[in-house]
Amino acid sequence: MNILLLGSGAREHAFARKITESPLCSKLYIAPGNAGTAMHGENVAIGVNDFADIEKFALNNQIDMIVVGPDDPLVNGIYDYLKANPLLNKIPVIGPSKLGATLEGSKSFAKRFMAKHNIPTAAYQEFTAENLEQGFAYIDQQTPPIVLKADGLALGKGVLICETKEEAKAELREMISNAKFGKASAKVVIEQFLKGIEFSVFVLTDGMNYKILPDAKDYKRIGEGDKGLNTGGMGCISPVPFLDDVLMKKVEEQTIIPTIRGLQKDNIVYQGFIYIGFMNVNGEPYVIEYNCRMGDPETEIVFPRIKSDLVKHFVALAEGRLQDEIIEIDSRAAATVIVASGGYPESFEKGKEITGLDSVKDSIVFHAGTKMENGKLVTNGGRVLAVTSFGKDIQEAVAKSNASIEKINFEGKYYRRDIGYEFK
Ligand code: AMP
Ligand code: GLY
Repeated sequence: MNILLLGSGAREHAFARKITESPLCSKLYIAPGNAGTAMHGENVAIGVNDFADIEKFALNNQIDMIVVGPDDPLVNGIYDYLKANPLLNKIPVIGPSKLGATLEGSKSFAKRFMAKHNIPTAAYQEFTAENLEQGFAYIDQQTPPIVLKADGLALGKGVLICETKEEAKAELREMISNAKFGKASAKVVIEQFLKGIEFSVFVLTDGMNYKILPDAKDYKRIGEGDKGLNTGGMGCISPVPFLDDVLMKKVEEQTIIPTIRGLQKDNIVYQGFIYIGFMNVNGEPYVIEYNCRMGDPETEIVFPRIKSDLVKHFVALAEGRLQDEIIEIDSRAAATVIVASGGYPESFEKGKEITGLDSVKDSIVFHAGTKMENGKLVTNGGRVLAVTSFGKDIQEAVAKSNASIEKINFEGKYYRRDIGYEFK
């Protein structure tokens, strides 16, 4: 099969590596890709939101399957766009329809979906310019901290946790009246603060059947000990030590099954990944968010832990027989540690030469923000590399990644040495 993968991060490098391990893949193209994906296939200079160019490329290159990495094109409706072309509508698109992607694209849609299908989540109400005053009154009834969420996509920055009612009211006004997050915050979800530990579960579904993939816990803060600004993710571990059979059974029965049934009842076309973010509140799993794609950096440990053929699973998914598939999972623990540019998530410099990758033997290095420039590999983003290792336990896996990172150099290199620290 000729496969076209959309995206350009370390997540897509992990997809590219896994897809090209399959004997079913004869040629992989990545649009637009990065220096890491180029090791597994051919990068093509098309942006993930250039739907007409993607369509043309798929037709001209006999593409047999399209796999979508990031949320943006999914929320913008790439699935529906491609399926509307009679010449392309037989080609599997791995990713949900526009309506399905709204589970990530609109917090309000996701909360309504959960309420309708009895999926445990924080109590909430939603507000716009029309009922702003009621929003203030709602805040008055809450006990801080109070969680404010911009309804739409806001580059991962749209969630505010306010310590006082005054702060919450000021932020609500900023979001709704002063467009703090642009159009994304014209509607705001205010919800109850959940106290607990977060974890993530990944599901592959054809809309009727589902398979649960390895779980993960990520580390979003820039600083060690979970201090400092939020980032796209500085590392993650799998499996999650506290996610035992009892908690997993609750996750499956209270969330995954009602989610898949909900998609069916609401006629939401969904053939792809669902990434569910949870809060473990005293042993009870509450859904914090849905994402309509795999996570980054979660994919960099989840896919290496999958031993079976992902492309074969995709074919089964597209044919509506995912239930026959057996997803084989490596029992070892895995960790990935992000190597970032100094200054990230605020301002940082690009174009620094990266050396030492050849001496890394015990880890898999996935490229995030990298590019080739005059024959040299240079930094090209905040998160530069994701270094993944296996171990008999989380600590061994993290230690291997940290040791590998010590062999890699570029000016301003930064990483967290304490990924998985709570599980020592
Ligand atoms: P989200 O974009 O919905 O994943 O939210 C971003 C982050 O905000 C989450 O990863 C949590 O750390 C935090 N968060 C979101 N909702 C809640 C909540 N109801 N209670 C506590 N923390 C939350
Ligand atoms: N690691 C968080 C995300 O992919 O959304």
